[in-house]
Amino acid sequence: MEKNGKRRAIVTGVGMYAPDKILDNAFFEKIVDTNDEWIRSRTGIIERRILENGATSDLATKAAEDLLKSINMSAEEIDAIIVATVTPDMFFPATACLVQNNIGAKNAWGFDLSAACSGFLFAFQTGCSLIESGRYKKVMVIGADKMTSIVDYTDRNNCILFGDAAAAVLLEPTEDESLGMQDSLLKVDGSGKDALYMLGGGSLNPPTHETVDKKMHYLYQDGKAVFKVAVKGMADISYDIMQKNNLTSDDIAYLVPHQANLRIIAATAERMGISKDKVMINIDRYGNTTAATIPLCLVEYYRNGKIKKGDKLILSAFGAGYTWGAIYLVWAI
Ligand code: COA
Repeated sequence: MEKNGKRRAIVTGVGMYAPDKILDNAFFEKIVDTNDEWIRSRTGIIERRILENGATSDLATKAAEDLLKSINMSAEEIDAIIVATVTPDMFFPATACLVQNNIGAKNAWGFDLSAACSGFLFAFQTGCSLIESGRYKKVMVIGADKMTSIVDYTDRNNCILFGDAAAAVLLEPTEDESLGMQDSLLKVDGSGKDALYMLGGGSLNPPTHETVDKKMHYLYQDGKAVFKVAVKGMADISYDIMQKNNLTSDDIAYLVPHQANLRIIAATAERMGISKDKVMINIDRYGNTTAATIPLCLVEYYRNGKIKKGDKLILSAFGAGYTWGAIYLVWAI
């Protein structure tokens, strides 16, 4: 490493896993009072994936294995694993421990990080900090959620929105300051706790027959309230990170937005002055997979040859907490 130069964290590998089973909008027409046109026009979602057997660690493990295979790397080389999720297999042990064991990452430590739809951004920043500290050389950051495990399939407001998936990136150091993680703006505002939550199962409401009867182990969202703050929060922070780094919309190769609602994504792109063709979208095929949406976009666009070394990307998200943020990343592979 250069003595005076900054050490940057770059993405050197990507991997993903989405279960085969598809739930299309017609499926929801059969179980709740909704229709394909409403879902498409209000959310942009056409279908989403569901993991029928298995847990979040299985999604995360498959994404990690896909990553390792694609760059021909041994799991033993990994120093740390961070799993962003709100649907861990259990409260403990951490999903990261289960993934570590599944893939045989004998030399890694790791932990889970809970920041809902902003989870990948928070985990990415954390992973980059481990690299920038000089202490770790290979950090795997995984966004994984089995959202269908906490969705109430009688609640038409929410059941149509979510799907299951996982995606992973590998972070490594570089001396080239022009590549990798350049900047981040990350925020929390706990006053948003009443608009999007899962009340049951924690120390506040330990599981009882009553908590189950009251459906407290399902996700609750006041969609309208969240929509309003999400539109402003995601658009503002994405614009702010551009300003802070003197970026114009022409400089940016892609906006990589959290995929919660196509209308929130469009509002963010508009505020940034970014045209539609420079916005990564896959909400139509996966719905909202919470911590997995952003890395899933990165994997698909990279593998389709749509991003190249040197491309400037703005990653941005908004989620429960509230949590939100934006990251300015220069692609390095
Ligand atoms: N099918 C048909 N109608 C539905 C429906 C469905 N699946 N879900 C709700 N509706 C109805 C509502 O009951 C409401 O009817 P009413 O006017 O008679 O009360 C009407 O459609 C409009 O509901 P509204 O909540 O205003 O819709 P919306 O345009 O706000 O869209 C969401 C709803 C959930 C798609 C939208 O609010 C959203 O995306 N919210 C934010 C999600 C998000 O970003 N979360 C953060 C990260 S997870």
